[in-house]
Amino acid sequence: MRKSSGFLISEDQIRQRITELASQIEKDFMGEVPILVGILKGSFVFLADLMRKLNMDVQVDFLGVSSYGKSTKTSGIVKILKDLGTSIEGRDVILVEDICDSGLTLKYIVDLLRSRKPRTIKVCVLLDKKERKVVNINLDYVGFEVPDRFLVGYGLDYGERYRNLPYIRELFPEELSEAESDEK
Ligand code: PRP
Repeated sequence: MRKSSGFLISEDQIRQRITELASQIEKDFMGEVPILVGILKGSFVFLADLMRKLNMDVQVDFLGVSSYGKSTKTSGIVKILKDLGTSIEGRDVILVEDICDSGLTLKYIVDLLRSRKPRTIKVCVLLDKKERKVVNINLDYVGFEVPDRFLVGYGLDYGERYRNLPYIRELFPEELSEAESDEK
């Protein structure tokens, strides 16, 4: 594995930004008990750290979706693999996602959950690849705007690997092909 340079968000940077996001959410939802909805699988690391920084009552649920499979490109097809376990009708929902790329996954999920009549839906993403958007999607809380590079770590995978890295880094072209050939 290459040691080097390339785009990186360190553990410290992530920790500090999550503290800021949490204090913004506390202010916005003062006196309420929002439901944090983590979008699996990628968001579980971010969600776990974010909720522990929230000094307020929250509930947690998960939605299991898959849009990429093993490919590095979005298919635009969102499959619901696991639905919510609780009703969100009349509730404040905060969708928690690791990364918004084309925006197709979040757009699909926001539209789906809106039909279940929550009181409000907000979207919290750790990473936003702004330049890749193909749909209009409002992101209420954004950790970092990131360049159009293939990123792994802190929940983000490539072919199900790298999710356990405690930081976020760029995956280099030679690593992409290594991972692809491992899967054959
Ligand atoms: C990733 C990520 C988002 C989606 C973003 O999920 O977690 O859900 O892609 O892409 P988009 O904005 O172009 O729709 P992925 O399908 O890789 O599944 P995972 O969370 O299980 O890794």
